[in-house]
Amino acid sequence: MGQGEPILELKGISKRFGGLTALEGINLSVTPGTVHGVIGPNGAGKSTLFNVITGLLRPNSGEIVFRGNSLGRIPPHRRVPLGLARTFQNIRLFKDMNVEDNVLIGQHVHTPTPVLSIIFGTQPATEWEDKAKEVADACLRKVGLESKKSELARNLSYGQQKLVEFARALAAQPELILLDEPAAGMNVSEKAELLHMISTLRDEGYTVVLIEHDMKLLMNVCDTITVLNHGKKIAEGVPRMVRNHPDVIAAYLGKGGDVRAGTC
Ligand SMILES: Nc1ncnc2c1ncn2[C@@H]1O[C@H](COP(=O)(O)OP(=O)(O)OP(=O)(O)O)[C@@H](O)[C@H]1O
Ligand SMILES: [Mg+2]
Repeated sequence: MGQGEPILELKGISKRFGGLTALEGINLSVTPGTVHGVIGPNGAGKSTLFNVITGLLRPNSGEIVFRGNSLGRIPPHRRVPLGLARTFQNIRLFKDMNVEDNVLIGQHVHTPTPVLSIIFGTQPATEWEDKAKEVADACLRKVGLESKKSELARNLSYGQQKLVEFARALAAQPELILLDEPAAGMNVSEKAELLHMISTLRDEGYTVVLIEHDMKLLMNVCDTITVLNHGKKIAEGVPRMVRNHPDVIAAYLGKGGDVRAGTC
């Protein structure tokens, strides 16, 4: 990847589920070190886009280039060590494990020993394992949850559980992090914290792609926003331009929402 080149590029990505076209000819270019928003009404194809990028779904056509290399048929678990991590729209934590162990799992792609042997203590701790815990704790610190590391995941609030997922994605030491509706279910102060965290990550050199419905958060943190509707890209640009784009307003009003009112 040369200087100034996109970190992630989608070229003509289409994905069909039977007769339903969830994505149609999507071209997308993400600039390194930016926060790139992806918005669109429910069912627009946003999560499908993440599933295709991460390899959970195979596109029917098109190409994905990450850091200058085509991802082709590389399976999801082999995309993570390349620098691609994500969170899910619906929380996927091990609820009966503690918070630190949930984050430790994010590092399994880099471990010489199976991460479960660290968690269950079936092998003596090595220097590497101590290091893995240090990384997990540092990621929890980044999301403001280091003091909760020994709590069971199920005892945390919904918003805090989303932050644990965020920390787990960071523990994979990605270059690009895909966040699928991180603010959903968060209260106002948690959202403000999240905004601060995402801005800090960008300052540290990470690239973030963010699916969100909270327009205020998007306006405050995104450098670029891409808008999907019915699987097609209908607008792209700086947040203010996108919010006032007639096709975007029409797409949301058609679904009973109002992109200018705050949530989309
Ligand atoms: N595995 C699947 N099998 C069949 N249809 C699917 C599958 N995944 C998604 N779809 C359909 O594809 C379309 C796009 O779904 P997707 O989840 O990507 O939307 P979204 O933009 O993330 O919506 P939301 O804002 O509600 O999360 C929807 O019509 C959905 O029902
Ligand atoms: Mg979704």
